[in-house]
Amino acid sequence: MKVLRTRITEVVCPARNHALLRFAADEVIPGEPGEFVMVRGDWGCHPVLPRAFSLVESGVTGSILVKAAGPGSDLLIGMNVGDELVVFGPLGNGFSVEPFERRPVLVAGGVGVAPLLFLAQQLAAAGVRSTFLYGARTEHDLPLADDIAAVAELRVTTEDGSVGEKGLITEPLQRVLQEDPKAIVYSCGPEGMLEAVARVAMAQQVECQVALEAPMACGMGTCKGCAVMTTAGSYKYVCYDGPVFAAGDIYGERA
Ligand SMILES: Cc1cc2nc3c(=O)[nH]c(=O)nc-3n(C[C@H](O)[C@H](O)[C@H](O)COP(=O)(O)OP(=O)(O)OC[C@H]3O[C@@H](n4cnc5c(N)ncnc54)[C@H](O)[C@@H]3O)c2cc1C
Ligand code: FES
Repeated sequence: MKVLRTRITEVVCPARNHALLRFAADEVIPGEPGEFVMVRGDWGCHPVLPRAFSLVESGVTGSILVKAAGPGSDLLIGMNVGDELVVFGPLGNGFSVEPFERRPVLVAGGVGVAPLLFLAQQLAAAGVRSTFLYGARTEHDLPLADDIAAVAELRVTTEDGSVGEKGLITEPLQRVLQEDPKAIVYSCGPEGMLEAVARVAMAQQVECQVALEAPMACGMGTCKGCAVMTTAGSYKYVCYDGPVFAAGDIYGERA
């Protein structure tokens, strides 16, 4: 884990109420898909703690996707090129990507798109084109969809039918897994969606990894605020045991 003093090099608005912040430091920004960083701007004595963000990109530049949700994300969205961003990380575990015999099916909702775009790009660089299922409420809630379409086979669902198939992302997921039971699912998104995705995959006996976004105060195992109950009946901490878990460990049958 490093503490990096970075500068924002680019701010993009990929959808309403979202910003993609790209930043660079004097050294390479490390990180793998699924890993996250704790981020804070130079806001003087403003009492906002650093917030957790999945990496969208690592290397010469890093990037995060921020959705306006409250005080921390609002401050980040208001930042400009040249501003200082303090980045602690990478933290947590990433997705476990195997040798590529199975079809990777990536299932995203909301800002869960961030680590999965990173994963789809890494798979594409290794010559693997993934199937990317992306669910949203409306056509305005699909940040980074163009970047996904450049590296993966993208299928979109919206709840209002304004673009793609009308309905929930679990419907195409069910069809894809029926067509190809030799798949592996990687998912990140809102809690309800993650559980539904995990249940579809488990019912088809398809391996599924889920990246959780539990609210976090420290990101480093100190505050114990990110505990989740596992299927085995014990607690795990999203920041250091996760954020990526086997779906069965969180959503399987309780012991
Ligand atoms: C591993 C991890 C990765 C994350 N990746 C991203 C990302 O890529 N992009 C992004 O925009 N956000 C991401 N988050 C969420 C982010 O850390 C902040 O929680 C979010 O930006 C809200 O912070 P805030 O200060 O703006 O609002 P707050 O005042 O902290 O929260 C605003 C509202 O959101 C709720 N909330 C806060 N945190 C969460 C959460 N983690 N899950 C569900 N509800 C929550 C609060 O209860 C409150 O109702 C991630 C969180 C984790 C743990
Ligand atoms: S966020 Fe503090 S222990 Fe996980």
